[in-house]
Amino acid sequence: MTEKGVANVQTPEGFLWGAATAAHQIEGGNVSSDFWRAERAPRSIFAEVSGDACDSYHRYREDVALLAAAGLNTYRFGVEWARIEPEEGWVSQAALDHYRRVAETCHEHGVAPMVTLHHFTSPAWFARRGGWTSDGAAERFAEHVARVASHLGDLVEWYCTINESNVLAVIQASGVAPLGTGTEGPSSGGRDDAPMAWVSADVGVMADAHRRAVDAIRSVSNRAHVGWTLALVDLQSVEGGEEQCARIRRETQLDWLAVSADDDFVGVQTYTRNVIGPDGLVPPPRERRMQTGWEVYPEALEHTVALAAATARVPVVVTENGMATDDDDARIAYTDDALRGVGRCLVDGIDVRGYLHWTLLDNFEWMAGYSKTFGLVEVDRTTFARRPKPSLAWLGALARQRSLPT
Ligand code: BGC
Repeated sequence: MTEKGVANVQTPEGFLWGAATAAHQIEGGNVSSDFWRAERAPRSIFAEVSGDACDSYHRYREDVALLAAAGLNTYRFGVEWARIEPEEGWVSQAALDHYRRVAETCHEHGVAPMVTLHHFTSPAWFARRGGWTSDGAAERFAEHVARVASHLGDLVEWYCTINESNVLAVIQASGVAPLGTGTEGPSSGGRDDAPMAWVSADVGVMADAHRRAVDAIRSVSNRAHVGWTLALVDLQSVEGGEEQCARIRRETQLDWLAVSADDDFVGVQTYTRNVIGPDGLVPPPRERRMQTGWEVYPEALEHTVALAAATARVPVVVTENGMATDDDDARIAYTDDALRGVGRCLVDGIDVRGYLHWTLLDNFEWMAGYSKTFGLVEVDRTTFARRPKPSLAWLGALARQRSLPT
């Protein structure tokens, strides 16, 4: 590994500098999705409902303009299956057109659109019929993907098929829940009366859906870069935890990274590390925790990018990285350290194609509701007015320099 602070490194031509969002977390009114119903179910596991979210379904032009004005060149956003196919077999042309306009808006601002085809939410009908393990699920998803790719194909070069396909495997293997839920995250998601499809913990099931989605995109576009994104916590062990750590790494990371070997890239999503000891997870010190309870450990990104590149042997895009905090200086310090790690990866010859910060807007943080703020932009919960934080201009300025400190 390159030593800290020894050099500045040019980012390669075409490096993606941007921010990421997810449809359900920012659009608002995602009424045909499984999560919308689960949020409202009796004994819901959600702290609050998503409701209007950031109203980005209507305010996307403002979102893209803010990102572009800061100096960023890529916007990763979600296309919501539940809007495009709210009832099984009925496709909303208007919803497809909407996402075309979002992609067009990106181009108007010189921003590359990166589309996520599935980011945790599914149509309620898909969850009701049993989700990813039900008969024909992968085929249904691939049909959706084919529709989107045919409609947006001339505008979009970067696709993430499934966001954090391994997230449930992570929760089951390590008892640690991303999504700010503490450790009692749902094992398969949702109550019986309002099931959530979310993802399956079975790598074979998710890999099958992913492969079909990749094929669907490639059949309509020969210039698309396609991959899936993985939740990659930096796993470390202390004495006595080595075996458990190795098992968790295999079940939640290596087996899933292997699937990426046939893709154009792998999306790395890293926020923190987990230290495993003889009794399982070693809790991080209180003074080093972000709002979600995760350890503030920006060095994690360098380690997971290196692991992903060495295991999948394909280019890496950091598709999410960020910090839940109300202290924007702390966000900048965290991101600066994380980016130095990316710089060192580049110096070491790792093929990193981009860095997309999580997230553009303070948004609906799933089960934790609106209490966790990862955004570069604050959103007024009543008027939806956007107020960029200093971190947005800071990140954009780095992007304009086209080099990274190490
Ligand atoms: C997800 C995002 C989420 C973020 C922070 C990732 O698990 O892709 O949707 O908001 O982490 O919890």
